[in-house]
Amino acid sequence: MSDKAILIASFGTSYDNTREKTIGAVERRIEARFPDFICRRAYTSGMVRKVLEKRGIHIPGVTEALEELANEGVKTVLIQPTHLIYGEEYEKILAEAGAFEDRFQRISFGAPLLADYADIHAVLETLDAGIPRQEGEALVLMGHGANHFCNTVYAAMDYYAAAEGFESVVVGTVEAYPDLEAVSAALKRRGLKKAVLTPLMLVAGDHAQNDMAGDEDDSWANILRAQGLTVRTVLRGLGEYEALQERYCSHAEKAL
Ligand code: CO
Repeated sequence: MSDKAILIASFGTSYDNTREKTIGAVERRIEARFPDFICRRAYTSGMVRKVLEKRGIHIPGVTEALEELANEGVKTVLIQPTHLIYGEEYEKILAEAGAFEDRFQRISFGAPLLADYADIHAVLETLDAGIPRQEGEALVLMGHGANHFCNTVYAAMDYYAAAEGFESVVVGTVEAYPDLEAVSAALKRRGLKKAVLTPLMLVAGDHAQNDMAGDEDDSWANILRAQGLTVRTVLRGLGEYEALQERYCSHAEKAL
């Protein structure tokens, strides 16, 4: 048996209809790419794990998964997060893994999806090409957003899109800045009256299905419609795009 493992750590989702298409697809891609490694799944969200536990689905956290690997005699571990930014969840992974320094010969960490400008370019390129649009139709990417300085990635991505050839792409976040108001102002400034909304998140879970595309008056889709825009939504998590699954593989490769 191998003494090398890759722990694929995701925030997690309680939405069954998106889980395997996104998180599962990234995991399967990494597993196929690194056949000499034991590949395991962990979720960093305690809340998501609790919800799933009640349904009889047990997914370990990072600590539990590392404990298991150490007990199985694994010597080197690569933790590949599927998170988008070097935010709080990523730091949680580092902290939990820190407690295992003495239990493994080596623990390394793969970068999140949006770790540098090449990543930002790759994600923009994939979504721009993957979601065909009509003339004058914007592509609005809805990220999660965080109360962390790394949240600036979203504003950087929005700036990069406008400056580097993705003029009809606008980036916003549900929980931070740029917010919907900033997105709406950007669409107005560029004279874009039609928009496709899609999540800038690994899974098309709660935020995508409710905050972005939901039937309620306060969903992004309905707020923009009330402002006179023609809106459609694409409920496809980033994990569904093969090019982005590949991106995680190359981040893992780099870390090894
Ligand atoms: Co959230």
